[in-house]
Amino acid sequence: MPLSREDNDLLTRVENGAPMGAMLRQHYWLPAIPSSKLEAGGRPYRVRLLGIDLVAFRGPDGEVGVLDERCPHRKASLALARNEPGGLRCIYHGWKLAASGAVVEAPNHTGDQERFCAHVRTRRYRAVDRGGIVWAWLGEGETPARFPELPFVDLPESQRAVTSVQVPANWVQGVEASMDSSHVSVLHESSTQVTAGAGNQRLLMNKAIAPRLEFEERPYGYRYAALRPAGDEQVYARVNNFVMPWYGLICAPNPGGPSTVFFSVPVDDVTHRAWFVHFNPGAPLGMTNMSASPDVWNFPPLPPGGPEDNWGQNRDLMKRGHATGFPQHLGTEDFAMFISQGPIVDRTDEQLCSADGAVLRVRQALLRSVREFQAGQVPTLSDSPELDYRRIRSVGGVIPAGSDWRALCETA
Ligand code: FES
Ligand SMILES: [Fe+2]
Repeated sequence: MPLSREDNDLLTRVENGAPMGAMLRQHYWLPAIPSSKLEAGGRPYRVRLLGIDLVAFRGPDGEVGVLDERCPHRKASLALARNEPGGLRCIYHGWKLAASGAVVEAPNHTGDQERFCAHVRTRRYRAVDRGGIVWAWLGEGETPARFPELPFVDLPESQRAVTSVQVPANWVQGVEASMDSSHVSVLHESSTQVTAGAGNQRLLMNKAIAPRLEFEERPYGYRYAALRPAGDEQVYARVNNFVMPWYGLICAPNPGGPSTVFFSVPVDDVTHRAWFVHFNPGAPLGMTNMSASPDVWNFPPLPPGGPEDNWGQNRDLMKRGHATGFPQHLGTEDFAMFISQGPIVDRTDEQLCSADGAVLRVRQALLRSVREFQAGQVPTLSDSPELDYRRIRSVGGVIPAGSDWRALCETA
């Protein structure tokens, strides 16, 4: 069923005190920037999350920090600051801020420095560097949110690749797509052929038959199995997980091969950052089309044009058989869809079908959490005794018809 306008706003909007933004800020760690972008003692980077302008940096000692972008003195950008031992020094009048957010020097103040600095109001954010990503917690209070110990965060660097790009569309459009398996064999028909492995071929083979989907609620969100007939008395099952608030853990196309976690993090109401973590829990990744990305902060490529030229779609290529005319990357095809849906998709006027169960459940989980937050509760899906991020498995395999696909997840 379509959403009301109020619910669509509640679901999508994150800026200016919107309840969803406040809930995400308090109860979740936010991926801010790939670790590899931050050089010790190097330049700070501007990062925008939930409509809040921040800078991320790594001090000369290797410690990472996330601060409000504007200097507390007279609001010059700390992206321009000098990166010194012990903090960032604003180049306007020389105030210095430690990674904790505290002002530690205000050299143009002539009175008692220490007392003065102690009274300057700044926001204190936590930052950690894990799994190839610098994360920030922007919530209030002393106890940060549960950290998402997803299957890639403790892997050695050789077994994962992290990339990210800013997309001009609301974040929920990205989150929905990560769980929307029925677009894969259509939108990505050509791009998956280009990178085809056995699993992909199996997916394409059954293109004519919509998979049967079975859902199960989990303490972090939900998981579902897409079940396709695979010959005599057998079923090919692919299990994917939606982990609140934006993680899609996708089953590896090939057994033992790399898997991907997609996440779409709100930059503001009409922009998100699409993250791809490509990882292999059992072996080094080597060079893949993700690990070979030329710029981890700007990859995969956005569609090459704007609405005036159909976002750079190549119709000649389509005449030669390409499914979409966006040969750049599988991600480019997704981004073209999100951007073409409009800055915030109008969900009051959709006409959903039986394939949209996973998308509906994403919305339900997000709306449930924001409503619990509005009622003054800790959202159930953000923290519960049963929530164990480390045990989440997205796997695929052929199982006897009639057997339980959940067994696949236990043995993985
Ligand atoms: S604006 Fe930063 S020190 Fe004055
Ligand atoms: Fe996609």
